[in-house]
This record gives sequence, structure tokens and C-alpha cells, in this order.
Amino acid sequence: MAHRWSKKKRPHQEDKQVVERNLIAHKVFDDKTVRVLVHFLDKGAFKSLDYPISSGKESFVFRATKADGTYVAVKIFKYETTAFHKFADYLDGDPRFSMRDTLRSRIQLWTRKEFANLKAATSAGVRVPEPYAFKENVVVMEFLGEEGIAYPLLEQTEMENPREVYDQVLDNFKKTYQNAKLVHADLSPFNILYHEQVVFIDWAQAVMRQHQRAEEFLLRDCHNVAKFFERRGVDVTAGDVLEQVRGK
Ligand SMILES: Nc1ncnc2c1ncn2[C@@H]1O[C@H](COP(=O)(O)OP(=O)(O)O)[C@@H](O)[C@H]1O
Ligand SMILES: [Mg+2]
Repeated sequence: MAHRWSKKKRPHQEDKQVVERNLIAHKVFDDKTVRVLVHFLDKGAFKSLDYPISSGKESFVFRATKADGTYVAVKIFKYETTAFHKFADYLDGDPRFSMRDTLRSRIQLWTRKEFANLKAATSAGVRVPEPYAFKENVVVMEFLGEEGIAYPLLEQTEMENPREVYDQVLDNFKKTYQNAKLVHADLSPFNILYHEQVVFIDWAQAVMRQHQRAEEFLLRDCHNVAKFFERRGVDVTAGDVLEQVRGK
């Protein structure tokens, strides 16, 4: 029989220390973020961060593995945004203001908003990654993938039947607007994953329907959806999408 030692579970504490040491040594994250990640390790939300699925301007998304071998997605909002650097030039060294703290709390609010919107969308029956937990600038959620590989973006997908996929998008869009009473506000084939089913992701910017700019964002979302499916041969206009989404 083959060796089984590699499958033997290491003590949890040791796992945690290894991850912590690596994160600090490689300076992937600032100390504050490392502390949050260690908190999640402690809680058993995951036992290792595997690799970044994506690295954008505002966030990283990592695949992470739990003790039972299943995966979660970990979205980490970056404190070091461009905006931060711009302000920091004028504020660093001025003891009256702590722009660093202000920006941090804004990013934490943004994180909380992503979590709250994911919760609301889930309850409304919209297909989104199920949110599990959040803290400061980190959200832990359902990993959307097959055999450890994240599902592709709708943008990158070859669709056999674009009309069917359009109907799925519409169904989720409608539930977002009518049941969750939200406007996603960045809905496009770059924020929809596709694998047999569509999944709407990236919810931090979503607003409630009564938001003063909700209407404008809704029109833009309708336009993005229509434009994408038009290019794939579905005969739709932004007006059609809007009518469907609003209509009962
Ligand atoms: N729950 C998830 N499961 C698998 N992949 C994900 C998940 N959430 C995000 N991703 C991947 O990470 C990328 C960035 O995530 P997103 O939430 O859109 O953040 P950003 O603000 O960087 O656009 C997505 O395009 C997708 O490829
Ligand atoms: Mg996105």
C-alpha cells in the first residue's frame, strides 16, 4: 500500500503558523490583512490560501482549501488603491488627519456592502456565490468551479444556445430587481460566470432600488446585457431588457 503520511493531518496550529509565516515573508498582504486571514484560519473558514484566481485594481480573489478538502473563494479588498496613494502624498506626516484610517474604514464598509448584497441576492433566489463570512476587508464565499478550476466568465464562453443563456440572465436580473430590490450596477459578461448556469458575481457596488442613481445604473446594466447578447445573435435591445426586468 502506498505511503499515507502525506495525507496525515498536521496539527491545526502548525498549519496556521506556516501560512502566517509565508504571507508575512512574501509581503503579499499588509499586516492588517494577514491578521484577518489568520483569524479565518483560526476559525477553520479555510486552512490554506491556494492561489489568486484574479488580481484586479481593487481586489484579489483567491481559491482556498478547507480542512475537508473542499474549496472556498476569498475576496480581499486592497487597502493600497491608487486613490489611497494620491491622497497619501498630501496627508502623510500631517498629524491632524489620518487618511489611512479613513480609507481603511471605507474599504471595510465596501466589503460589508458586498457581503450584505450577496446575502440579499441569495435570499431573493438570485444565483450568486453564497456568502459565508466577512471581516474588515475580506469576504469568504462559495467557490464557483469544477474540480478546483473556477468557472469562466460569460465573456469567454462559447454558448451553444445564447437565447437560453439570455433567458437565465434575465431571470436572475429580474429577481435582483424585483425580489432583492437591488440594482447590480456593474452587470456585464465580466461579472457573470457561466457553467451550465449563470452566476452573478461582484456585488460591492450594487445599490438599493431607491438609490438616487439607481435608474441610471439599471439602464447601463440593461444596455450591457443587450449589447453582449446582440453580438451573440440574440435579437434584443436594452429597451426589451428593461421592460422584462421591470415588468411583473
Ligand atoms: N466565488 C467565486 N468563485 C470562483 N471565482 C470567482 C469567485 N468570485 C470571483 N471569482 C473570479 O475572480 C474574478 C474577480 O472577481 P470580482 O468579484 O469580479 O472582483 P473585481 O472587483 O476584481 O472585478 C472574477 O472575474 C472571477 O473570475
Ligand atoms: Mg468583477
